[in-house]
Amino acid sequence: MANRETMLLPLDDPQSDAKAGNGARSDFRDLAFSSNRGEPVHRWVPWIAGYSRQFVASAIDMHMDGPGAVLDPFAGVGTTLVEADRKGHESVGFEINPYAAFAARTKLAAHLVDTERLRDAIDAFERFAEDAERRGREPRATPPAGFSTRAAFYSPDVQWKVLTAHDFIAELSDYLVADFFRLAFASTMVTYSNYSYEPSLGRKATAGRPDVDDYPVFAELAEKLTEMAADADFWKKNRSNRQERRSKIYGVSFFEFYKEVEQGSVDLLITSPPYLNNYHYNRNTRPHLYWLGFCNSPKDFKKLEQRNFGTYWQTARDMDPVSLDPAIANAEINSLIYDLRAVNPEKRIYGGQGWANYAALYFNDCLRFAEGMKWCLRSGATALIVIGNSILQGIPVPTDRFLAEIAERAGMEAVDIHTPRDARVGNSIVNSSVRVGKANGSRLYESVVELRRP
Ligand SMILES: C[S@@+](CC[C@H](N)C(=O)[O-])C[C@H]1O[C@@H](n2cnc3c(N)ncnc32)[C@H](O)[C@@H]1O
Repeated sequence: MANRETMLLPLDDPQSDAKAGNGARSDFRDLAFSSNRGEPVHRWVPWIAGYSRQFVASAIDMHMDGPGAVLDPFAGVGTTLVEADRKGHESVGFEINPYAAFAARTKLAAHLVDTERLRDAIDAFERFAEDAERRGREPRATPPAGFSTRAAFYSPDVQWKVLTAHDFIAELSDYLVADFFRLAFASTMVTYSNYSYEPSLGRKATAGRPDVDDYPVFAELAEKLTEMAADADFWKKNRSNRQERRSKIYGVSFFEFYKEVEQGSVDLLITSPPYLNNYHYNRNTRPHLYWLGFCNSPKDFKKLEQRNFGTYWQTARDMDPVSLDPAIANAEINSLIYDLRAVNPEKRIYGGQGWANYAALYFNDCLRFAEGMKWCLRSGATALIVIGNSILQGIPVPTDRFLAEIAERAGMEAVDIHTPRDARVGNSIVNSSVRVGKANGSRLYESVVELRRP
C-alpha cells in the first residue's frame, strides 16, 4: 500500500507559525495559500485564490478572547472555517461554488470520519483496482454527459482508470468515507488530465507540455487517501474540545445572510471575497463540478455566474450601462466608473464600457457585503478582509480603500488597512485582460482591511 504518513507537528507551535510568516510589515502571518501545502487537512485541496492557515490563526489569536463564533462569507475551500473550528470556535461559512463548499464541508468533518473504515476501504480499493486491471474489467460509470472540452480531458487509458475508481466509490456504504474518496479524486483529477492551471484552466499542449497518455491513477488516489487518513487521526487529537460546536457551511450566496445568521451573533469575520480581477471560479472548476455531479449543463453555470460576488466581466459586459448604488455616494469611485467607460468606446462592450459595468456591479456588491457584515457582527466585533487591488484597462483601482469607504457608508468603522505582502505572486491576475496597458508603474498588492462593527 502507498505510504505518505508523515510526521505531523502540533499546529500551535509558535516556532512553526513564526517560520511561515514574514512578520515584517504587520502582525499578520504570510497570506499565501501555498504554505497550506504542508499543513494537515488544509493540504487536501489546492485552491488558487486562498490564504494561509497561519494568517487565520494569527487573526484569531489577535481578536478572540474566548470561544466564540467566526464567520467566513466567502469560504472557498474552508481555510478560515477549518482553522477556527480546530482552535475551538464555532465557524460558519457561505460558499457559492458547490465544489469548494463540498471540499470545505469534508475538511470540517475530519474529526468525524472512522479512520479504521477509511483505511479498510483504501485496502479494498487497491485490491479492486488490481483485479480490474488484471481482468480488463469494463467500467459501469460513464463520463459526465454535459462536460465537453476542446480536446479530450482524459486520454483513454487514464479515463478507464478514473471510471473504474468511480465504480468502486459508488459501492461505498459509509457516506463520509465515500466523500473522502470523492474529494481525493477531485483534488487530484486535473493532474492526470490533459489540462492544467496556467493559472486559468487550459490545455497542457497549449502550454507546451505533452498530453498524459497514462498515469498511476489508482496509486495516486491511494496515496492521497492515506495522507487524509493520517491527517484525520491527527485532527482527532489536535482539535480543541473547549466548546461543543457544530461548524457549518451554507452552499448558498452570502447575500442570503439574513436567513441563516442570527443578527449580532458573530464575534469575528475573516474572509477574502473574489477580487476585482475577473478570476473565473466556475470555469476553473468545471471539471470538478461536472465529474462530481454538481452541474449537468451550461444552464447550471449561468445561475452560479449571476450569483457570484460582482458577477463576471463576461456577464456584465452585455448589460445596459450599470450605475453605482446611490448609497455608495463616493466621488472617486464614481469618477473611476466614468473614466473606465471612456476607454476605447469604439470597442463598445469589449472596451471600457464592459469593464465599467463589471466594476460598478462589483462595488455595488461591496455595499451589500458591508450591510451583511453589519447585520452578522455583534457590536465591537472585528472584520478582516483580504483583498487585492486591480488595474483595469490600465487604470489603477485601490480596491482595498474603496471597500473600506463603502463599508463606512454601510455603518461599519474603518480601522486600518494592513499590507502583509506588497507584491502579489503567482496570482490569477497575471496574464489576465485586467492588466491591459501600463498603469503609471502601479503594482499589484494585497491588503487586510480591518473594520469594526460600532
Ligand atoms: C478568494 S476566494 C476565498 C478563498 C478562501 N479564503 C480559502 O482560503 O479557501 C473567494 C470565494 O468566494 C466565493 N464566492 C463568490 N461569490 C460568492 C457569494 N455571493 N457568496 C458566497 N461565496 C461566493 C467564490 O466561489 C470563491 O470560492
